[in-house]
Amino acid sequence: MYTEPFQRATLWLERGLNNVFSQKYNPFYYHGALPNFFIWALFITGLILFAYYQPTLATAYSSLHYITYELPFGNLFRSLHRYASDGMMIFVILHMCRVWFTDRYREYRILPWVTGVVLLAIVFAIGLTGYLLIWDQEAVTLANITFNLLKRIPFVGESISNFVMAGQVISDYTLTRFMFLHLGFPLLMMFMLWMHYLRITRPVSEPPLPLVLMMAGGLFVTSAALPVTLEELPKGLNAAVPVLSGPGSVTSEVYFDLLYAWPQYLAAQGISPILVLLLVLAVPLGLLVVPYLQKKAMRGQYAQVTRENCTGCSLCYNDCPYEAITMVDRGNDGTRFKRLAVVDAGRCANCGLCVGACAFKAIEIPRRDTNTVLAEIEATLAAATL
Ligand code: HEM
Ligand code: SF4
Ligand code: SF4
Repeated sequence: MYTEPFQRATLWLERGLNNVFSQKYNPFYYHGALPNFFIWALFITGLILFAYYQPTLATAYSSLHYITYELPFGNLFRSLHRYASDGMMIFVILHMCRVWFTDRYREYRILPWVTGVVLLAIVFAIGLTGYLLIWDQEAVTLANITFNLLKRIPFVGESISNFVMAGQVISDYTLTRFMFLHLGFPLLMMFMLWMHYLRITRPVSEPPLPLVLMMAGGLFVTSAALPVTLEELPKGLNAAVPVLSGPGSVTSEVYFDLLYAWPQYLAAQGISPILVLLLVLAVPLGLLVVPYLQKKAMRGQYAQVTRENCTGCSLCYNDCPYEAITMVDRGNDGTRFKRLAVVDAGRCANCGLCVGACAFKAIEIPRRDTNTVLAEIEATLAAATL
């Protein structure tokens, strides 16, 4: 399996983190729950910023200036919001790598994986629109590059760009649109999260309190030590302006932001817009293909019933935690039994519980049948008693 070296590295890191955080609070065991902590941190700090932010060309920068330099604790909330957004993306990527490298992303987990890819795109869009709302010189440059990139999308680019810009020129409506997207995407995220959890039995979605306190402490310390700043005021942007195109769109230095603004950075370095767009597209498309790259031998591994051995006792049906087994009428098949266990391959998680429940060797997971597992146990016991 191509992920094996990564899996080993993940397990090695996991052991190291156990020494630091103890087994009970190892962040690796809450990889899915930690993004939820950041969602709450973003929601609370965002609400405070929202109370003072004014989304017009004339007031966006000055309202942020007020929040940063005059509002008591204003910059603390801004910094917390910014670092929580970085933390969100970092932990979402960690979560993604963890489920990927520990082989928990395909077959019946395809729904959390696909919705996860959509969630990744949503988190990215929320972060980018957040950057644009700042409307300092760098944000204006980022907005220009973003519109120019969007325009290059074949056939629909112009319409998408106009939608995001809320017209054909940058105006007050543009900032209102950024605001709409920055607040609308989280609503979409809630819906996608509901879908994300649909097929997961008992998802671990809340980190324990000590881990929450550690994460919150980390956010506060970073925000106090490295408070975020404002770039200079953008020039001449108090009225509707056309979008600059070509090299002129880069009016200030574009900092490299690995999490949210890397496409704009690449475009600012002179890389062709089409190549940048292809790179942006390659990330979600590549991730969607990943579950199908698995070796054939690893696919289709679901519990299979041997009809001749099945007595219809329903023990497997009662034990299956994924509701993957149904008991059906077996018709007149020459046996004295009335019912037969049938496995829904799409729901089966290969957990093996049904194999343990069945006293008749009537249900097996092909690559790990009862004989193979028993042989492994005997070999281990023999080695232990030597
Ligand atoms: C807003 C971002 C996300 C949040 C809040 C989130 C949250 C969660 C939670 C709480 C779980 C259950 C974890 C458990 O029970 O151990 C989970 C499972 C899962 N997530 Fe995410 N997730 C997010 C993004 C992603 C992304 C980007 C991917 C991959 C592209 C992904 C793929 C998966 C998969 C495959 C599972 C199933 C793992 C299993 O059954 O063990 N998620 N997610
Ligand atoms: S292996 Fe058996 S118990 Fe586990 S999900 Fe599949 S059918 Fe259900
Ligand atoms: S597969 Fe085994 S446990 Fe399930 S109904 Fe048949 S005999 Fe019973």
